[in-house]
Amino acid sequence: MATAALILAAGKGTRMKSELVKVMHHLEGRPMIGYPVAAAKGVGVHRIALVVGHQADRVREYFAADPTISIVLQEEQLGTGHAVACGGEFLADCDGDVLILCGDVPLITQGTLRSLLTFHAGHGGTVTVLTARVPDPFGYGRVVKDATGRILRIVEQKDATPAEREVTEVNSGIYCVNATFLRDAVARIGNDNAQKEYYLTDIIGLATGQGHACYSYTVGDQAEVMGVNDRVQMAAAGGVLRRRVNESLMLSGVTIVDPGATYVEQGSVIGRDTILHPNSFIGGGTVIGEGCIIDSSVSITKCRIADRVHIKAGSVLEDATVQSDVTIGPMAHLRPGTILKEHVKIGNFVETKKAVIEEGSKASHLTYLGDCFVGKDVNIGCGTITCNYDGKKKHITVIEDGVFVGSDVQFVAPVTVGKNSLVAAGTTVTVDIPPDTLALSRTPQVNKEGWVKKKQLIVDS
Ligand code: UD1
Ligand code: CA
Repeated sequence: MATAALILAAGKGTRMKSELVKVMHHLEGRPMIGYPVAAAKGVGVHRIALVVGHQADRVREYFAADPTISIVLQEEQLGTGHAVACGGEFLADCDGDVLILCGDVPLITQGTLRSLLTFHAGHGGTVTVLTARVPDPFGYGRVVKDATGRILRIVEQKDATPAEREVTEVNSGIYCVNATFLRDAVARIGNDNAQKEYYLTDIIGLATGQGHACYSYTVGDQAEVMGVNDRVQMAAAGGVLRRRVNESLMLSGVTIVDPGATYVEQGSVIGRDTILHPNSFIGGGTVIGEGCIIDSSVSITKCRIADRVHIKAGSVLEDATVQSDVTIGPMAHLRPGTILKEHVKIGNFVETKKAVIEEGSKASHLTYLGDCFVGKDVNIGCGTITCNYDGKKKHITVIEDGVFVGSDVQFVAPVTVGKNSLVAAGTTVTVDIPPDTLALSRTPQVNKEGWVKKKQLIVDS
């Protein structure tokens, strides 16, 4: 079995009409090139070289922390054969077989790669080409075979004779090749063809010329080898990836009310009996537990959410940790650093940031809780604000267990409210409050009876 892979990705992707190199465009939560990388790793390949040219540094940076990835630079894109030749040093350390993949073919699955490798090992060929049968082969390299099914050569569209153009078995651009042969063969490829490029596909002719056998393994679902060249194809590929994720979630016990309108990025984990309503977006490696309800139009990124959590419509959660039996929203905004312990309730139009809220506490309406620690069983009244920013620095508010905060209270941080205290509605808290204390900072109300009539401020109708 192959233990090394070369992934060709030096092309700019002109048809993307983008500043960003094609293979770094994101598809369902990861750059396009991340997909062939993941598929290769999935079949046990742990030495992977990416052949890059345009914006090589961006690719290098993305994979910087991954020890299995090395970057090979192909400064000028002289063709797929030249691209592989640039990986000469990498190939020098390979024995056995090398898998060759394309950076812009993201739908290839582990299953197909595994079948290709098994086929290759079973047939003992020098090269096995992953092919597809397509109704319209235009633009692809055509696979020309002998009567026994061995491949004789691959002919590119522009070089093919009319008879060869009739062939509907096409080259996917994915191969399994004996490394020793490949090293030698790519050094001999010429560019005497219609595009004056060094064609990797010429290794087939070289192999058969030397008496080596080359075979094809045909993919079951041709969509897997679809290349992404423009943003229309990118959206189509995104749709396929989304469907795969949603189907695997549904089969594992997640209810997705409308899979066509549910967006779960790669790497998210969702537990059984959780229900996703339409237009929910879940990404950034979010983990959601069992029995949760995610209402419509909820966006969750980089969060850890435990069991039986109900997130109501229109809520946005980023980088937050939510324990079991919490309810959130509608229209709540949990910003990074929010930690909600069990049975917390965060209601509508509540924003939290770097806020730790202990078990059983509630902030039901129209509140900002930033840079704060809220103890257990605290009630935060409507319109409460932690005034955490003095224009230069952020300060902390601490509200201890059992505190009752009335409506429209401002905490001018830094400030601490002791256990079981009561902060009266409308209070602006500027100094610490000891435990078991009533704090109130309202000016006493004055009623001037008859005043309005006297001033004739009310016009009789
Ligand atoms: C190639 C195959 C063709 C096959 C098709 C499948 C050759 C000669 N032809 O054609 O038989 O049907 O793929 O999609 O190989 N690349 C580099 N450096 C280069 C040129 C290309 O890294 O100098 C990379 C590209 O970024 C891309 C891949 O190789 O990921 C394929 O290149 P592309 O130019 O798209 O090849 P095609 O002409 O489509
Ligand atoms: Ca192509």
